[in-house]
Amino acid sequence: MALIASIKHMTSDIAEYEAETIPGIETFALDELYRLYGREVSQVRQTRPGFLRFRYRGAPQTLSLLRSIIAIYRIHCFSIPRPRALLGHEHFTRLTMILRQTAASFNIVPETLGIGAAGSQSSVFRRLRLELSAALALQPADDGKGELFLRLIRQADGPGWELLVRTTAQPLSKRGYRVADVPGALNATVAFAMTCCGSLPHKARVVNLCSGSSTILIEHSLTRAADSLFGVDTCGDMLNIGRRNTRAAGMSAAIGHLLADARRAPLPSRSVDRLYADLPFGHHIGSHQDNLKLYPAILQEAQRLAQAHTTFVVLTHEVKLMKRCLGNSAWQITDETVINLRGLHPRLFVLNQNSARIVK
Ligand SMILES: C[S@@+](CC[C@H](N)C(=O)[O-])C[C@H]1O[C@@H](n2cnc3c(N)ncnc32)[C@H](O)[C@@H]1O
Repeated sequence: MALIASIKHMTSDIAEYEAETIPGIETFALDELYRLYGREVSQVRQTRPGFLRFRYRGAPQTLSLLRSIIAIYRIHCFSIPRPRALLGHEHFTRLTMILRQTAASFNIVPETLGIGAAGSQSSVFRRLRLELSAALALQPADDGKGELFLRLIRQADGPGWELLVRTTAQPLSKRGYRVADVPGALNATVAFAMTCCGSLPHKARVVNLCSGSSTILIEHSLTRAADSLFGVDTCGDMLNIGRRNTRAAGMSAAIGHLLADARRAPLPSRSVDRLYADLPFGHHIGSHQDNLKLYPAILQEAQRLAQAHTTFVVLTHEVKLMKRCLGNSAWQITDETVINLRGLHPRLFVLNQNSARIVK
């Protein structure tokens, strides 16, 4: 926090920004924005699902501490009727100046340039991409993304166009601790949001059933270093990647990994303050048939591990099955959020126990 306080006053420019997040976790993003930047942010509003806009007084790079955000863009307005006008001398000079300044603030020297816009494959955008690449000595990015990445959109409240320039060379959601891309690994911003549900005692004991590559555990420990955490998974390969990710995050002392069935976790009853599970959806991992048995067993095992105050945060796409299983369990839903994860709509359930539960 002292670091934020010292660097966010490096500049007193107030500028307009757009934050992109996962549709469904906007309130987590709002909370984090206010928690980290307090009165330095103003006029915060959600403009459409997954997008927040706000004004911020401070250096743009200081916003890169946000963990619930995919990417931050600084907004610049151009009074032009159409993007073709950006190729004219005056606007092109301003555009390249903005992009040079942004690139100079990165922690790496960018090599690639990408443009995102409706019609980005049109001849105008192709020319713009080529001319900008030449002017800035960058390669046009094959995947359209690029380390220096800009978007162009028509102004919603005016006749011109908006240039949105990503403030970092990589999206913030691309975590440095990820040593490998694993199918089924959870988007880190969603994992972070899961760790923001409910309160916890100091030095809490935390268990992630079906922990996979440990994304949730790492996100939790990065903001609560004093807690002790265990991941439980039946897949040795996933656990190994989880261990490597944990090491890369510098959290090996806090996070243990158990090769075990989450229906019979080798941990004592009533020993856990917080439970997490990103359950197999039955798409990439597992099957609906497996889940029919797995889900009720996991809820029961979570009940055995939990104390009266324990919150169980669960992500699943098997919403009907989950609700049916919850009806036969001691857990009740205290909060439920629908998330849009690349076209899938999993649900984030925050569960607490009925006070009249029976512990076996
Ligand atoms: C959706 S993935 C979890 C992904 C994880 N959140 C991550 O970011 O990598 C579900 C995980 O459940 C594990 N799993 C399936 N059945 C299990 C069981 N009975 N006990 C423990 N783990 C199980 C799978 O091996 C897989 O790693």
